[in-house]
Amino acid sequence: MSSFSASRKRFLGRLAAAVGLLGAAPRTLAQGAVAQTAASGALAAGEPSRTARGAALLRAAHQVYDRPLVFDDPLALSVVGASAEAELRADAWRGRGSSALRALVVLRSRHAEDALAAAHARGIRQALVLGAGLDTFGCRNPYAPSLKVYEVDHPATQAWKRARLAESGIAVPPALTFAPVDFERQTLGAALAQAGFRADQPTFVTLLGVVVYLTRDAAFETLKFVASLPAKSEIVFDYGVTEASLSPAEAAARRAAAARVAAIGEPWITWFDPPLLAQQLRSLGFSGVDDLDPDAANARYFAGRNDALAVSRGSHIMRARV
Ligand SMILES: C[S@@+](CC[C@H](N)C(=O)[O-])C[C@H]1O[C@@H](n2cnc3c(N)ncnc32)[C@H](O)[C@@H]1O
Repeated sequence: MSSFSASRKRFLGRLAAAVGLLGAAPRTLAQGAVAQTAASGALAAGEPSRTARGAALLRAAHQVYDRPLVFDDPLALSVVGASAEAELRADAWRGRGSSALRALVVLRSRHAEDALAAAHARGIRQALVLGAGLDTFGCRNPYAPSLKVYEVDHPATQAWKRARLAESGIAVPPALTFAPVDFERQTLGAALAQAGFRADQPTFVTLLGVVVYLTRDAAFETLKFVASLPAKSEIVFDYGVTEASLSPAEAAARRAAAARVAAIGEPWITWFDPPLLAQQLRSLGFSGVDDLDPDAANARYFAGRNDALAVSRGSHIMRARV
């Protein structure tokens, strides 16, 4: 095999992993393979999150393939590394994979950053990016220095991200602080306090593409922590709905995707019923609860396009205010 076709094959494999959540995961996007671990938990085994890499590749693909942009992220391409960027720009992937998953990944970031802009305008000066993966907000924070950003992620993923940033030449601004936390084993409040986070300040929190990987207990512990923050604090998170609200075909597609993601060691384990979740959030102490369903999301963010970019049924985005 020529080195070009070998590299093309590797790249398409990475993108297949990003979209279909299949395949081998490199330690960095550009080089090196990591042995697969059991479905019982790649993160627990000390591997950086493969799905974090997948989501980052989808944001990068969006910058190249979709117009108009739903989510404009000037660092999305550099953070995935020069070789992935070059291959995306060389059109290696146009038309492949699930555009609905790409739509979901860019939608949740756009919705969260719109909400963050509004929060900053009403005086919020502290943001918390939970399960950050390769999210670049902290590095392109347009509100710095008036907005401090704390990024929390599993220690293995965060160490990998910091190496990725250095490798890509993306500077870590003084307004960004990293705090490694495993939501299943550590207390968020204690780890954040050590990092200098002010639990007495209203805070804007994102938790994107994360709760489906957490146990229900860890998800609620995280939500409880946010609910304990001062009034006007807010969280945006996406979640998968329970199968009961899906058609048989949608449920079958979900099961197939879930089996693929379980096979790479990051199984989807937690689903929510939207009305029940809204009620549970209110019981935790959230006062305003605003659930964005796929129809509303498509009408608000994907209307009038010439391409088919849109989210499918299965995931909602919750915005809840303390
Ligand atoms: C699909 S990625 C999403 C990353 C990022 N929010 C985005 O939208 O690109 C899932 C993220 O959840 C994090 N995560 C999963 N389980 C975790 C845990 N137990 N503790 C901390 N982070 C966890 C992973 O490290 C990874 O960064």
